[in-house]
Amino acid sequence: MRSNVASRSASASHEDDMILRYTLGERLNHWFGALTYAYLLITGLAFWSPYFFWLAALVGGGSTARFWHPWFGLAFSASLFWMFKDWRQDMRVDNSDRAWGRVISNYIRNEDDKLPPTTRFNYGQKLFFWGMCYSVILLLLSGVALWYTEALPWSLRYVRYTAILIHASVAFITIGLFLIHVYMSAILEKGSLASMIHGKVTAAWAWTFHRIWYDDLRGASRSKQ
Ligand code: HEM
Repeated sequence: MRSNVASRSASASHEDDMILRYTLGERLNHWFGALTYAYLLITGLAFWSPYFFWLAALVGGGSTARFWHPWFGLAFSASLFWMFKDWRQDMRVDNSDRAWGRVISNYIRNEDDKLPPTTRFNYGQKLFFWGMCYSVILLLLSGVALWYTEALPWSLRYVRYTAILIHASVAFITIGLFLIHVYMSAILEKGSLASMIHGKVTAAWAWTFHRIWYDDLRGASRSKQ
């Protein structure tokens, strides 16, 4: 299937065959989210274990990292909130996703031609998105509790213990999601990374990977003519 895409994209190189997948605003926000997440990942790992403390040196040392980590947490949450605002409709799970989910093994084996057509985002992308949205709520709540931990009276120490547990475990869930996301979007699916840089995909790419979305766009442009 990948070679199919390659030959299709070769014939679809003309500007007319390009489709806007991400607006400038969506792209800027995505990369802002990616950068803030990278900072949180580096500093969070440095706080979590002495084995990773050397990472703090990459971003100005331990106390600088401790000062900025919560602020970057707020910035990342704001970025995710923006993604939620932009994409929540397109991320709705529907019957096409359930059908896709039942044959996800074909996706893992790279047999995309055996997958049912998908909307703007496939089921895996939707699960990633919702996983990140719910995680950020938990990270934000537990993070604020840890930020103002001295303000908590000793009688509420279990709030602190729970916040530590939630913050670290949810952070690890997001690391798993993040690694899968980068691998699937930026490495495995040729053309995706470019779409998050200049915004466009070939018609062949859209037809191959997100056919319902492609048909909707084509239908909408035909009805305007
Ligand atoms: C260096 C890190 C990252 C890289 C290289 C990267 C790459 C990409 C690419 C190439 C796409 C387009 C996928 C497509 O349309 O087929 C994408 C979409 C997306 N990215 Fe990222 N991303 C990164 C970090 C993040 C982070 C930290 C988040 C946090 C939530 C995120 C959230 C999303 C979402 C929600 C989408 C749309 C759905 C999806 O494709 O999964 N990305 N990303």
